[in-house]
Amino acid sequence: MIQLASDINSDQRASSSLRTRLLETRQLSVKLAAPLTAEDMVAQAMDDASPTKWHLAHATWFFETFVLAPRMPGYAIFDESFGYCFNSYYEQVGPRQPRPKRGVLTRPSLESVRAYREHVDVALEAFFALGLDEDDAAASALEIGINHEQQHQELMLTDVLALFAANPLRPSYGQPQPQKVTAAKRGWMIEYAGGVERIGYAGQGFAWDNEGPAHETLIHPFALADRAVTNGQFLEFVLDKGYEAASLWLSDGWAALNREGWRAPLYWEQRDDEWRAMTLQGMTRLDPAAPVAHVSYYEADAFARWAGRRLPTEFEWEIAARRAPEAANDLSSGALRPLPAPSSVAGAPRQMFGDVWEWTGSAYLPYPGYRPPLGALGEYNGKFMVGQHVLRGGSCVTPKGHARATYRNFFYPHQRWQFMGLRLAEDL
Ligand code: AVJ
Ligand code: FE
Repeated sequence: MIQLASDINSDQRASSSLRTRLLETRQLSVKLAAPLTAEDMVAQAMDDASPTKWHLAHATWFFETFVLAPRMPGYAIFDESFGYCFNSYYEQVGPRQPRPKRGVLTRPSLESVRAYREHVDVALEAFFALGLDEDDAAASALEIGINHEQQHQELMLTDVLALFAANPLRPSYGQPQPQKVTAAKRGWMIEYAGGVERIGYAGQGFAWDNEGPAHETLIHPFALADRAVTNGQFLEFVLDKGYEAASLWLSDGWAALNREGWRAPLYWEQRDDEWRAMTLQGMTRLDPAAPVAHVSYYEADAFARWAGRRLPTEFEWEIAARRAPEAANDLSSGALRPLPAPSSVAGAPRQMFGDVWEWTGSAYLPYPGYRPPLGALGEYNGKFMVGQHVLRGGSCVTPKGHARATYRNFFYPHQRWQFMGLRLAEDL
């Protein structure tokens, strides 16, 4: 049983200080791990999915490595051997445990990882006590550490789902908070005139380096669906033998489908005529009105082709998101699953934030003038700018306040274990 909403609902952006948000973020990770047993926290379901214990330690290592060690006089590294275990991919920091082998780290023990968190939390408190200028480099390193830990909070839950889906008992992570949703009946396309549009982050708050520089892009007239594609719509594609029609698929997608034996989105199962899906609440009946989740780029693209539409570009998505309500079914709702589109004012896109990350047709590339930051943190986003696609929005397990209209998530086109879905677009 887990109760999220009450704890996370405070508006993290406007009202809280950096120190408060740091504390809340550190506490939320521990809270998210609370429903899990010690065994749950060590196993690794697949190469892409990391154990909870690893996430808890890695986010801590990040603060130690990029905030405390370089900036706090006299800081004592908790354990020199942890760098090898919990460095994810920073070549400039040193060698590391191979990603697919994170699940063999039965040592360091969960107990010592908890002690590690405590050690770093105490040091971070002391670091604040030294006094901190809101606009100095230490503050921005802390801000990155907070946003980094939030990314790992989302990964913790998607990775637990992968683990529980691979378990024959099909455990439930937690019961959902009851939701009051008046589902809107049918969707429509919203038209946008296009023109020369400013894209990317230009505000004063935190944004990742890959969201800038802000720049102008030529946008042709387009329309974008007012909501995400639903399970019911995707089931029609499945029943129409979409997974057997090579003509609907990109060549690489058709190869992935055949190699992996894809017949439906990840976690879907058919029993007689009933379709069920593995969720954070265990196996449940497929909700036809909820957004489809756990589809690869290839499946999203094939569905759009079948529907006579296309995926939006990341720029089209961003333009639409500017006029979207910020209210979102994110981690703070406690639903832990994508929900049907709420009824709201006609003409405003819904579900832009929360529910599912939305695949865009855009390759994950640097914006004009982009330079990765100097130092090891320059490896954070920039070096992944090949072969991946941008996803926009946020999901039902994205921490509140983490995402924004300019946020660029990115994954390889075959990946589908995140809460990833799609929204249709078309040319006008
Ligand atoms: C932006 C979600 C693709 O999972 O590697 C975590 C987030 N970056 N630690 C990833 C991230 C560094 C990143 N994604
Ligand atoms: Fe990380």
